[in-house]
Amino acid sequence: MANFSLGIGSSFSLHDNTMNNTTPTSSPTAQNITSVQLDQVCLDIQGKRVLDNLSVNVQTKRLGIIGRNGSGKSTLSRVLSGLIEISAGELSVAGFDPFHDRKSAIREIGLLFQNPDHQIIFPTVLEEVVFGLRQLGQKKAQAEQNALETLTTFGKAHWQDVHTSALSQGQKHLVCLMAIVAMKPNLIILDEPFAGLDIPTKKQLQRYLDTFPGSLIHISHDPNDLDNYHQLLWLEGGKVAAFGTKDDVLPQYLAEMHRIGDSDDISILAH
Ligand SMILES: Nc1ncnc2c1ncn2[C@@H]1O[C@H](COP(=O)(O)OP(=O)(O)OP(=O)(O)O)[C@@H](O)[C@H]1O
Ligand SMILES: [Mg+2]
Repeated sequence: MANFSLGIGSSFSLHDNTMNNTTPTSSPTAQNITSVQLDQVCLDIQGKRVLDNLSVNVQTKRLGIIGRNGSGKSTLSRVLSGLIEISAGELSVAGFDPFHDRKSAIREIGLLFQNPDHQIIFPTVLEEVVFGLRQLGQKKAQAEQNALETLTTFGKAHWQDVHTSALSQGQKHLVCLMAIVAMKPNLIILDEPFAGLDIPTKKQLQRYLDTFPGSLIHISHDPNDLDNYHQLLWLEGGKVAAFGTKDDVLPQYLAEMHRIGDSDDISILAH
């Protein structure tokens, strides 16, 4: 393990300066900055400590979470969305506990799952997008109109009656994102959103994300995906390996990933 300047297991606190670094057309507004506060958060799954004493305090518009396979990124995304309860510690996202305040979490936080097959439950694209809006309490006709508007924004109105099971993985990913965007959350958590997407789709999604007025937490193992993210949280073995600016964190992350890559630890990853 490299000698991380920020140290594993410490508390980390940062304020976002994203607004000073983006062009006026793509700049998120000063509103809707999301606070994410984790205080000694631990999560055990089947007796295994998957998240280990995470303490982070950040006000953010654009936060990147980086880490290698199995480091706990997807698990943390579910914790931040309130889909699973933590085993110890305290957690607040956008000012509330997302597991215990489900109503606020559904309204404020959208999670794009790493695997779209874990997210999609309806037979057609329109039904899938409508579902989230119905969860927000919209009447059927209103929900269908809003869903169609979102499909149109993405240039995918012609997908409305397409069967979700007939879509490719990348297309399913896009449907999931449209379903989340339609709900107009203040925070979207994206778990490897570009996995399996071709270059045009990825560019189109990136363009959309650049103009998203709310906050984004973008999870990826690939630094290239996180170019627009000035704050990075690096997870390693369920712990915070480093948290800071992209310029601070990325060189350490890359050096460590290459160091590990030159060895062979795949055989012990499952422990
Ligand atoms: N339901 C579960 N049961 C047992 N172990 C689990 C479960 N979910 C996650 N884990 C373990 O928690 C650790 C973190 O998994 P997680 O999926 O969060 O990693 P990740 O960083 O998202 O990895 P990847 O880059 O491969 O998506 C892994 O060691 C995994 O085996
Ligand atoms: Mg994952």
